Amino acid sequence: MSFNDQVVMVTGAGSGIGAVTAMAFAAEGARVLLVDIDAGRLDQVVQEIQRQGGHAYACAFDVGEASGWHWARSLMAELGLTLDVLVNNAYVIEVKPLHELTLESWERQLRIDLTAVYLGVHTFAAQLMANRGSIVNVASVHAVTAWPGHPAYAAAKGGMVALTRQLAVEYGSAIRVNAVLPGPILTATWDGVSEAGLAQAAAQTALGRMGSAAEVAAAITFLASNAASFVTGVSLPVDGGQTIKAQG
Ligand SMILES: NC(=O)c1ccc[n+]([C@@H]2O[C@H](COP(=O)([O-])OP(=O)(O)OC[C@H]3O[C@@H](n4cnc5c(N)ncnc54)[C@H](O)[C@@H]3O)[C@@H](O)[C@H]2O)c1
Repeated sequence: MSFNDQVVMVTGAGSGIGAVTAMAFAAEGARVLLVDIDAGRLDQVVQEIQRQGGHAYACAFDVGEASGWHWARSLMAELGLTLDVLVNNAYVIEVKPLHELTLESWERQLRIDLTAVYLGVHTFAAQLMANRGSIVNVASVHAVTAWPGHPAYAAAKGGMVALTRQLAVEYGSAIRVNAVLPGPILTATWDGVSEAGLAQAAAQTALGRMGSAAEVAAAITFLASNAASFVTGVSLPVDGGQTIKAQG
């Protein structure tokens, strides 16, 4: 799987799945633009990719703000780059039942977890079409299964899956658009969860363990690559069988 000469943008690349995905694309020869709101973490990942001989550029901005996307497009123009692959991965979450969630928190989660996809595609659709590029949206098992306390997150991820289908049909052969639905993946997301909580999440999967960021990155790079040239509009669970396993 080679991404030689391809330009890839990964949001939320300062940590977890985004960081490992950015590294995986870089290892396959891509020029990778890493986006994150946390400039410090972003620089560490960029430096790590550069140490390994890869091409990486840090783009610190908030994916929920149109101005950040426009700034990134200008930066790329200065660098002479146009986009081949967009990975929408950045997210926020607040775990609370809906009646305890403020309108501000609801809107913030929808903005960063869903509206950011609109902003990214709106900004880069022309380049992606010209390059016959591809989009991979990082959704979640929460798009198709309900756990208490995730109303805004589930709504955003469910919207992301619907939008993935919509965009796949809308852009047809010009841009392939797919999604991955990670299950429990051991990243900073799980910091602070007890051993018992981690064991419970692992037991919910058919494989009996949590997944790694590298396992999600492998699915993302596959969907973005020519190996998936006849695949568009799918939402691929990368969940160890969590969503097909009866819980009881
Ligand atoms: N880890 C899991 O178990 C799991 C399960 C299902 C889905 N996912 C999905 O995978 C993706 C990555 O999750 P992760 O576990 O690697 O998370 P993570 O917390 O390790 O990384 C998320 C990154 O997004 C960045 N970010 C947050 N708000 C931003 C903003 N406004 N603009 C730009 N960047 C912003 C953060 O700074 C962080 O670096 C998310 O879309 C998440 O919904 C993760």
